[in-house]
Amino acid sequence: MVQLLRAHDVRLSPEKGLSQTANGSSPQPGAFLPVGSPWYLCNYKAMGGPTTQSSPLRKPLDAIPPELAAPSDYERLAPEFIEAAALALISGGSGGEQSLRANVQALADIELHSRILQDFDAASTRITLLGQVFRHPVLLAPISAQTLVHPQGEFATAAGASDQQAGLVVSTLASQPMEEIAAQTDAPKWFQLYIQPEHESTRTLIERAENAGFTALMVTLNAPIQKPSYRAMRAGFVLPDHARPANLGASAKRPPVVLRPDQSPIFQGMMSEAPGWDELARVLEQTSLPTIAKGVTHPQDAKRLIDMGINAMVVSNHGGRALDAMPASLHCLPGIREAVGDEFPLLMDGGIQSGYDVFKAIAMGADAVMIGRLQVYALAVAGSLGVAHLIKLVRDELELAMAQTGCTSIESINRECLFTRAGA
Ligand SMILES: Cc1cc2nc3c(=O)[nH]c(=O)nc-3n(C[C@H](O)[C@H](O)[C@H](O)COP(=O)(O)O)c2cc1C
Repeated sequence: MVQLLRAHDVRLSPEKGLSQTANGSSPQPGAFLPVGSPWYLCNYKAMGGPTTQSSPLRKPLDAIPPELAAPSDYERLAPEFIEAAALALISGGSGGEQSLRANVQALADIELHSRILQDFDAASTRITLLGQVFRHPVLLAPISAQTLVHPQGEFATAAGASDQQAGLVVSTLASQPMEEIAAQTDAPKWFQLYIQPEHESTRTLIERAENAGFTALMVTLNAPIQKPSYRAMRAGFVLPDHARPANLGASAKRPPVVLRPDQSPIFQGMMSEAPGWDELARVLEQTSLPTIAKGVTHPQDAKRLIDMGINAMVVSNHGGRALDAMPASLHCLPGIREAVGDEFPLLMDGGIQSGYDVFKAIAMGADAVMIGRLQVYALAVAGSLGVAHLIKLVRDELELAMAQTGCTSIESINRECLFTRAGA
């Protein structure tokens, strides 16, 4: 397992100015940390200490109140249920958060064309992906460390997904054992893989996923490194022990790589252990499951992945948590659809906040979408009930959008459903 921090201790010394030492000491705020491994496992402390909680947190709800009427209400209520530093970790994006904002704005900029007098007796939201039937195209994205926000963590999320028959993608960095999470849902379930530096660790994860009944492997490719969001750094987030990755075993405890002072902690440090095309090829050889590449935004990468035998892709900028200033996932979608062809299974995530957003992403070329942060907020606010309710709200809005645009099936949603302003 990747060591959590290839830490150079970076200090401002009165004699030498800004200096680096490769002493493998505890990370300082602002240090770069690997993703694909839980960077927040390190004993991470902000200079000023962690953010203090202004008011006591509420206990998760066991009934849905009227104030939870729209999917976005879960985000509005989340600060009352999630500790401030954890909320900073979850809500934040990389860098100046340009991509985070772009995801939401791109969806908000789209308008729909209303159609009238359509018969909906035989209408359905059912789709088939990788030969697997989904009752609707709303999946839950892989999210790490869910016991951070709710004591039942991934178990509750899986139970909520099962209730609404939503596809569930379980993260490599889940805080509960993948076998037990899988047992909580009878809806389609996929395992998200971060390729580990040791082949043996990757192979073990793949074998466990296959044995646990996951029916596809989603390999995340666009987050080999990530700097913690400035929000999380400022808040002094520290991952509690109970939310640590439960499926990585000893591989989570690799010793730090010691670098010479003239070496870069990014190039010769973290990137030296980031997976390349060969490692992906090895994963494809090792698994008998269908494979999905997550984090594809460049058409040339998409074509190469198809040549390698990938079975599906997720167009994703990692919820604005990977390269900042990259475009919204939605804006990358048409280019990838063109590169992969009409029939290739394509998902999208990033910024989905409603069933209308789901509709828009499908109209722009996706077969299905994944919801990230909103699922965490729903989990925190009302556990499995909240997750199920969130999915139901999103599904209802999707069906409303279909009913009012004249689309009786997911396949019939296309660009013609989008309104183009005169002169645009
Ligand atoms: C707190 C948090 C943890 C995440 N953990 C993972 C992860 O373990 N694996 C992964 O592939 N993506 C992870 N992601 C990215 C999501 O799967 C997804 O791509 C993104 O959240 C979608 O954007 P949205 O939050 O705007 O819906 C994480 C995102 C967040 C916010």
